[in-house]
Amino acid sequence: MISLRHLSTTFAARGKDPITAVDDVSLEIARGSIQGIIGFSGAGKSTLLRNINLLERPTTGEVIIDGVDLMKLSTEDLRQSRHQIGMIFQGFNLVNNLTVAQNVELSLKFAGVSSANERRARVAEALEIVDISDKATVYPAKLSGGQQQRVAIARALATRPRVLLCDEPTSALDPFTTATVLQYLADINRELGITVVVVTHEMEVIKALTDHVAVMESGRIVERFAADRLHDKTFAPTTPIGRYLTSDGIHVDRGQHAAAVDAEAAELAVGGRV
Ligand SMILES: Nc1ncnc2c1ncn2[C@@H]1O[C@H](COP(=O)(O)OP(=O)(O)OP(=O)(O)O)[C@@H](O)[C@H]1O
Ligand SMILES: [Mg+2]
Repeated sequence: MISLRHLSTTFAARGKDPITAVDDVSLEIARGSIQGIIGFSGAGKSTLLRNINLLERPTTGEVIIDGVDLMKLSTEDLRQSRHQIGMIFQGFNLVNNLTVAQNVELSLKFAGVSSANERRARVAEALEIVDISDKATVYPAKLSGGQQQRVAIARALATRPRVLLCDEPTSALDPFTTATVLQYLADINRELGITVVVVTHEMEVIKALTDHVAVMESGRIVERFAADRLHDKTFAPTTPIGRYLTSDGIHVDRGQHAAAVDAEAAELAVGGRV
């Protein structure tokens, strides 16, 4: 469904060296699968995700969605193609002075659905999918974080996309609410056949939701594995970063000074020893 070929994204910074946020990444994502992308802060996860709908246009490479290279499309064709790709974010990004229904309707207006009746029907359908129809006339500020994210999912689904991109979808939520939101994403994948790409730094999210995992470090995919291997106690990723991310929880040594731990983390981040 998604084929990324030799993608690189470089940000030019005035007076500084350019930053290569995505560095020659190639990745195939099968139709109907859930691909996880994990890595430390600054690894390039969000940039890679935004490359998939050209929200951030890669500097070089090919982004092929269902056989079409988005990089080669005209502005108008790209606008049309983008409606096949929904996106949700850590911060939900709802418009505060619009109701829940109006927020969802807005994406349909942007998608050029001109019939008000059609929009109303699609808003109702999308709110139904995430069981939030009862909040249609409420403003986002009156909702919990989990409810806001469900509205954001409804907004992303209203245009009936074939791909859903999720950037840290549960990082602002407590563990219970996280489980609920992940369940909705799993249902949407299974029942609607939508291909899902989820960027996270939480291994729990990867374990609970995904089929395939790609580990990113310094703009590159350094390792990939099938997510079900995470349930195998003998499984050990081959890269230091993969092993660190799959290790259990955060370790704090109460006899050690933070600066020492910091130095160790810095060494790890530049691909040093573990
Ligand atoms: N618009 C931009 N302009 C310049 N540099 C950018 C821009 N966006 C990202 N970067 C840089 O690119 C690198 C990768 O950033 P990115 O946001 O993709 O990382 P990330 O893995 O999503 O991190 P996090 O887990 O903190 O969200 C970082 O060094 C970041 O500072
Ligand atoms: Mg990010």
